[in-house]
Amino acid sequence: MARFALAVIMLHPLITINGVFLAAVFGYMFYNAYLHPLSKYPGPKLWAATMIPSVMSIIRGDMAVDCKRLHDQYGDIVRISPWELSYRNADAWKDIYAHRTGHTLLPKEPFFYSPVSGHPNIVFSDHATHARIRRTVANAFSEKALRQQEDLIKVHIDLLMQRLNEIADEKMSLDIVMWYNFCTFDLIGDLSLGQAFGCLRNSELHPWVRMQFLLNQSFSFFMTASMIPFGFKLFDLILGNGVLKARDEHVKLTDQAVKRRLATKTDRPDFLYFMQRDIGSEGDRLSVDELVSNAGALISAGSETTATLLSGATYHLLRNPEVMDKLCREIRGTFKSDEEINTVTLSGLKYLQAVMEEALRCYPPVPTGLPRIVPKGGEVLLGKYVPANTIVSVNNWASYQSAKFFKDPEKFVPERWMGDTRYADDDRKIFQPFSVGPRVCLGRNLAYMEMRLILAKVLYNFDLHLLPKSNNWMDQKALVKVQPWIFGNVHQAKVPFRELAKQVIRHFLVLLEQRETKLFQTMRDELSIDAKKPKEMFEKNGQQVLIRPANDPSGCDLLVMMWRFGGKMYNMRKFEAPHGCVPFAAGDAQYLHMASEGLDIRDNSGRFLGTGNGRTVSTSHSQSLSASALDPLSEEFLKLWERESDTTVAAALSKNSRTNP
Ligand code: HEM
Repeated sequence: MARFALAVIMLHPLITINGVFLAAVFGYMFYNAYLHPLSKYPGPKLWAATMIPSVMSIIRGDMAVDCKRLHDQYGDIVRISPWELSYRNADAWKDIYAHRTGHTLLPKEPFFYSPVSGHPNIVFSDHATHARIRRTVANAFSEKALRQQEDLIKVHIDLLMQRLNEIADEKMSLDIVMWYNFCTFDLIGDLSLGQAFGCLRNSELHPWVRMQFLLNQSFSFFMTASMIPFGFKLFDLILGNGVLKARDEHVKLTDQAVKRRLATKTDRPDFLYFMQRDIGSEGDRLSVDELVSNAGALISAGSETTATLLSGATYHLLRNPEVMDKLCREIRGTFKSDEEINTVTLSGLKYLQAVMEEALRCYPPVPTGLPRIVPKGGEVLLGKYVPANTIVSVNNWASYQSAKFFKDPEKFVPERWMGDTRYADDDRKIFQPFSVGPRVCLGRNLAYMEMRLILAKVLYNFDLHLLPKSNNWMDQKALVKVQPWIFGNVHQAKVPFRELAKQVIRHFLVLLEQRETKLFQTMRDELSIDAKKPKEMFEKNGQQVLIRPANDPSGCDLLVMMWRFGGKMYNMRKFEAPHGCVPFAAGDAQYLHMASEGLDIRDNSGRFLGTGNGRTVSTSHSQSLSASALDPLSEEFLKLWERESDTTVAAALSKNSRTNP
């Protein structure tokens, strides 16, 4: 007893401190939930008491879905954190994002919108700076500019068609999201930096683009970090600053590319050409740092957004064959050849336009809300007082998927945009996928032009089929994983070895040049890769790389790649569908085999696996798969694919069968 009393006396200060701390925390939560000026707004009390539920929702990538659920439950305005309100109301667009007489234009929420490079740009800037920047950048998006840019754009779309043709010839399936991204990144890179990223040419993401994806995928962490005191420092500590490094590297590469482009005198009608010319007043001229910052912002704003919309449109078309048929009939009935397809000829295609709108409704590239902050003195929004420093936004997906605004909201019905009387009561005023007001999307016309051209050409030239594993593609997360890939699995592995070897070697060299890891550097020293002798055998036993080309001394027409670093499997995406290889994510060793017709397939140790038929892809996986020769279209193959890869959608491609004239 005496001991207990002594312990209590000794621990007394600690107990007191803990007690005070807990009381303060609970007091703070109670205040937030019941006494805070926002407490009269409806919403779950737990979300109002602390930011933990909203942060968790962002990190899980569930924010868009959670907001819809909360709006369905609580109404048009929901409190989704101690200091944040989400709106689902057509008039809220005007109140939050547009100029109103007698009111201040709400500023962008500063943490969410902090420029990566430190220099302001059209997206990340306060309203005063923005007005100056927008006057200049808008030159690059005028009707005149757009007309001149069509030829630049078409080069990349034509290259996309060429690459898809090759895939169709090889009867391979594909990751259509990836290919849309290749195209839109190349296209916007060309317009912003004066040079394409070469994604379409090399069938892979340029390191700059990969970094962009990493940054996009880390966006939720950035958002979360911005909400927590010292969040960025913490973030840095936890993630070993890989993402922050990527961010800095990204800025550096953009800087170099823009400066290279500025040093070139050219009449190409790209963004930098217009941003430097025809400037309204001398005071509007952008500094080089601002040009760099804006080029980066334009690539971010204009690449993944359009690719995302195209992916959503393609998925919904594939899930709704009657809509797909109708659209194909419109496109194929209008044009006699691919060359006839251009912006002017496409403008008459009403159903195509309706499909675009419906895709923007069902799969908006900006699914959540764009945060604005209520300034000092507070504001009246939708007739209700909102205190200063409250974050407010209109939630796109929650609005567009609501039965309050759209009949059959979950159905993909382009007819609702064409005056179909069944949908006469749809409230289209809520539909603002490009936002409104002075920060409305500047690239809207360019986006429509690109999306129409790409979709029309894809559907004119090809028949698409959704592979079974892609059926639930919509069950994905926003923000954490902005956009899962639609991987293609291989129908036919009849890849000319020479081409394949060239791709592999080129890839190695790119990686080596990028100095992605020290290991790669060591490899370069240790392996003498000679691109001119693709049939030469490169082998390094029991270690990182083994490439055994066709007709090698073991007597089989076989390509084996094994790539292992320090017990960790390196990402095999580089060798995916276009090269005829199958990417598997897990495990610590991997072999990919492609065999020509009639030839033996053997594994690394010479063990017989099967006979090649020109289409056979066999895989052996050290951890979970026993070596076997599989027909890639077989059920077994699909099951393995399902189990082994973290991908969600796959599509098969074949040339337009002209069954729908
Ligand atoms: C389907 C495609 C697209 C969608 C849905 C979309 C949507 C949006 C949205 C919602 C905003 C407002 C952002 C905010 O308030 O923070 C925005 C801004 C912007 N978008 Fe787009 N966008 C698309 C394509 C493009 C393209 C192709 C470009 C060309 C580079 C582009 C350039 C911009 C720019 C420059 C801004 C900033 C405008 C400003 O603040 O003055 N967008 N976009």
